[in-house]
Amino acid sequence: FAFADGNDTYRLNAFGFLHYAVVALGTPNVTFLVALDTGSDLFWVPCDCLKCAPLSSPEYGNLKFDVYSPRKSSTSRKVPCSSSLCDLQTQCNSAASKSCPYSIEYLSDNTSSNGVLIEDVLYLASESGKSKITQAPITFGCGQVQTGSFLGSAAPNGLLGLGMDSKSVPSLLASQGVAANSFSMCFGEDGHGRINFGDTGSADQLETPLNIYKHKYACFHFSQFHKQTI
Ligand SMILES: *[C@@H]1O[C@H](CO)[C@@H](O)[C@H](O)[C@H]1NC(C)=O
Ligand SMILES: *[C@@H]1O[C@H](CO)[C@@H](O)[C@H](O)[C@H]1NC(C)=O
Ligand SMILES: *[C@@H]1O[C@H](CO)[C@@H](O)[C@H](O)[C@H]1NC(C)=O
Repeated sequence: FAFADGNDTYRLNAFGFLHYAVVALGTPNVTFLVALDTGSDLFWVPCDCLKCAPLSSPEYGNLKFDVYSPRKSSTSRKVPCSSSLCDLQTQCNSAASKSCPYSIEYLSDNTSSNGVLIEDVLYLASESGKSKITQAPITFGCGQVQTGSFLGSAAPNGLLGLGMDSKSVPSLLASQGVAANSFSMCFGEDGHGRINFGDTGSADQLETPLNIYKHKYACFHFSQFHKQTI
């Protein structure tokens, strides 16, 4: 599977030299330019913003970003505090909302994303038939408050975690039987690349363990891998 908007990835110098892809979420769908991060798990997008990166700016060039809002998507659902994906169960308030909060700190100084977990559909296209769109229910963060680099210099429109934890997008797709638990990325010298889920890459691609500290190997196939730091 590729994202419905294509298997392309882009390295964007304006946004921290990370690799980005376009993803569509919700009904009606809203698209996001998200940073791809193998070093973290949660997928989050700017949402019902209290503190988010600007949606447009001279530094972005022609790009204009969207924001997700659970209220505007007919397929969105709250993730209850009882969900196994809810890490902050102790911080769930017993009041009406009862949404599971999340808070992630990244390696860069003071860079974090905070909000509540939401479930909604992610649009995927099978490589065999581009016209066949699959709607995969997925849990992600409604990022209401971002800090540090996420306020403009990196991942201004969300971040997609490709790590090994059960919350990451590849793990969620696998646990729902949508795609096999593997993905491949391939980055060209010019910064243009590809990402596919549930595949093992092309025959000439190499394979690397995703996390050398866990004795578990996810197939991360690549031809050229530029380490990303966030
Ligand atoms: C990416 O998508 C393009 C266009 O649909 C397709 O031709 C190409 O084979 C795909 N590449 C990979 C590596 O999946
Ligand atoms: C997203 O919505 C637009 C129009 O609202 C539609 O043209 C497009 O096909 C939709 N994308 C997906 C992946 O469903
Ligand atoms: C991080 O935040 C703390 C407290 O707000 C501040 O003192 C510090 O200078 C910040 N560090 C950076 C690198 O922005």
